Amino acid sequence: MTDGKMESLIDSLRKEETKACEEIKKSKDVDYLQELKVSFLGRKGSVSVLFRKLKNVPPEERPAAGKLASQVREKIEKLIAARLRELDVLKGQKEPKKTPLDYTLPGRKSWTGKLHPLTQTLNRIVDIFYGMGFEVAKGPDVETDYYNFKALNFPEDHPAMDMQDTFYISDHLLLRTQTTPVQVRELEKRKPPVKAIAPGRTYRHEAINARSYCVFHQVDGFYVDQDVTFADLKGVLSAFVWEFFGKEVKLRFRASFFPFTEPSAEVDISCVICGGKGCSVCKHKGWLEILGAGMIDPEVFKRVGYDPEVYSGYAFGMGVERIAMLKYRIDDIRLFYENDLRFLRQF
Ligand code: DAH
Repeated sequence: MTDGKMESLIDSLRKEETKACEEIKKSKDVDYLQELKVSFLGRKGSVSVLFRKLKNVPPEERPAAGKLASQVREKIEKLIAARLRELDVLKGQKEPKKTPLDYTLPGRKSWTGKLHPLTQTLNRIVDIFYGMGFEVAKGPDVETDYYNFKALNFPEDHPAMDMQDTFYISDHLLLRTQTTPVQVRELEKRKPPVKAIAPGRTYRHEAINARSYCVFHQVDGFYVDQDVTFADLKGVLSAFVWEFFGKEVKLRFRASFFPFTEPSAEVDISCVICGGKGCSVCKHKGWLEILGAGMIDPEVFKRVGYDPEVYSGYAFGMGVERIAMLKYRIDDIRLFYENDLRFLRQF
């Protein structure tokens, strides 16, 4: 290689360097930069072609020329990388600015789910009886007139069987008006001793007002064995009332009538609002009726095939809405069914 050739290689390298600098500076997008990289540094790129010409340079001059070639290549690589970063920053600036986070704002409250006050009341009632050895039994909401009435010793012409009170589905199918039929189903299925409670939904074709609703809940309880007495019934109901409402509450058993119990009683508790002094809730009587109870009638035992001479048993039944209303001082039963969050969130 002559001096002239050496000169022209160095010139060419310098020219490519200048050209690359200008082109890179002018470039506006990433794709174009990639193209530039290929056209200078790719296998057939102008700088690579010049690299291959190094072999024609006389050996004593080759190191200097080689050094320059490397410097040019490195410079172009660096310029491209720097321009890529620059384009990236420019792109970010063109995008609309994100609203900065304000870490001082109070957090948003996430609501936790809660059990409905009726479910809470029902669970509490079930827990107390479960603690006293009662099993939990379930029966169908759609019941036959046999289990809902006849097996419970309701006479044919009993007013409760009237269309007024009962939602009939067909001649013999109805929505149960009480959870008492579960007693019959359980006693039929099992042998004494049987000690269970039957919590569940009940239905009545009644005018809706602050005191009554077409759907409500009851818990029935019963214990059948040899030598079960009315004293056992009083003991169990007193224990329940004191556990649920508090030890200071008094109980009163009043003679009453139910077709499926004999004798029957209605149980009152001293008013939980005024303590028995008299107020608008207890209608100034000092007492509140909370449940019905009695000794299971021999007629019911005969229906389920138990010998009334051998076995005796007690039964009781209470309305869950009524108990929840007394516990939480709610004066309108409809509130339970309106699902108004302002009401529900208080429990
Ligand atoms: N089933 C009755 C009602 O709905 C309540 C009741 C009273 C249930 C006495 C009983 C009982 O088990 O022994 O009014």
